[in-house]
Amino acid sequence: MNIGLIGSGGREHALCKKIYESKITKKIFCFPGNAGTSKLATNIEINILDFKKVLLFIKFFKIDLVIVGPEEPLVKGIVDFLKKNNVKVFGPSKYASKLEGSKAFMKMICAQNNIPTAKFKICNNKKQINNFLDNCKLPIVVKADGLAAGKGVTICGNKNHVIKKSTEIFNGKFKSSKKVVLEEFLTGEEASYFLIVDNYTFKFFGTAQDHKRVHENDKGANTGGMGAYSPAPIITKELEKKIILKIVKPTLKALQKRGEPYNGFLYVGLMITKNEPYLIEYNIRMGDPECQVILPRLKTDIVKIFKNTTLNKLKKTPVVWDKQKSMTIVLCARGYPGPYKKNLRLSKINNIKLSRKDFIYHAGTKFLKNEIRSNGGRVLNISSVGNSFYKIRKKIISIIKRLKFSEFFYRKDIGWRVINKR
Ligand code: AMP
Ligand code: GLY
Repeated sequence: MNIGLIGSGGREHALCKKIYESKITKKIFCFPGNAGTSKLATNIEINILDFKKVLLFIKFFKIDLVIVGPEEPLVKGIVDFLKKNNVKVFGPSKYASKLEGSKAFMKMICAQNNIPTAKFKICNNKKQINNFLDNCKLPIVVKADGLAAGKGVTICGNKNHVIKKSTEIFNGKFKSSKKVVLEEFLTGEEASYFLIVDNYTFKFFGTAQDHKRVHENDKGANTGGMGAYSPAPIITKELEKKIILKIVKPTLKALQKRGEPYNGFLYVGLMITKNEPYLIEYNIRMGDPECQVILPRLKTDIVKIFKNTTLNKLKKTPVVWDKQKSMTIVLCARGYPGPYKKNLRLSKINNIKLSRKDFIYHAGTKFLKNEIRSNGGRVLNISSVGNSFYKIRKKIISIIKRLKFSEFFYRKDIGWRVINKR
């Protein structure tokens, strides 16, 4: 099969590698991909939100199946558009993508189906905000309803801050929506649970924990993710049963009932409080960098899984996992998540010899005059698998040191929760 892969991050490099390893794959085309994917696939430089142009290339290259990595094209309806034009595509419909694309939609699904989540209020104006603030406990989490590239959530310790952040959203700071969701603040440990879903059934697709804060000891600004590991030991068999019974099944049933069954990856973002799961968010895609730690543990041919999911034959498709553990550390350009330099040289990557257990996923990279250069804040994901998180992290850090990149930084404490307990 010829496979089309949409996206350009570390997640897509990880997907691309797995797709490349599949026995069914003939050729891979990445829209637009990065310097890493270009070794395994043909990169097509294109705006992935220009669906008509994407379709032209899909037809021209006789692509049999399209996999969509990031949320924005999904929320904007790429799956519906391609299906209408007779292209086979893996990913949720525009309607189902509202689980991530609209926090108000996701919260309404929770409220209507008794799904455990933070108490909330959807607000359309300042008056509703003030009414809510009259009798609530602080802190309060202020969320923009629509997609906000990870910048739409603020934890506010006082009422003025709530009003300021809400006003910014009402004034159109995030173009996707002007609604505000106010939420009670949940305490506990965050973990992510992944599923692959077809119209009738779903299968487990790994667990992971990431580190969103930029500095060690989980300090500093929020980022897209500074590192992750899989599995997440906090998700025990007992907790998993609760997640499926209280959160996953009611959500999928609610969409089915509306005649809009879910199909694709589903990322369940959880807060675990006293061994009880609360839904923080849904993402309608794999996580980045969670994908980079989950896929190395997958033993089944990924293209077979994608193909059978789009055909609604997931029930009879085995999805088998390796018992080994996996970790990735994100190498960032200095300054990230604030302003940072681009076009930094990365050619030394080619001199590093890695064992079969290690891998460097490219995230923000590109080719400039035949040289690998940085093209974003999160640049590389140095990853490895093994039997001990402690040893895996040591190995990853030794690889980063061999790279001798002075203009980049990384967190040395990824996985502290699972390592310091020893
Ligand atoms: P979201 O985009 O909804 O996942 O929010 C981003 C991050 O904000 C989450 O990963 C949590 O760390 C934090 N967060 C969101 N909602 C809450 C909440 N109700 N209570 C505590 N933390 C939250
Ligand atoms: N690492 C968080 C996310 O992909 O949303």
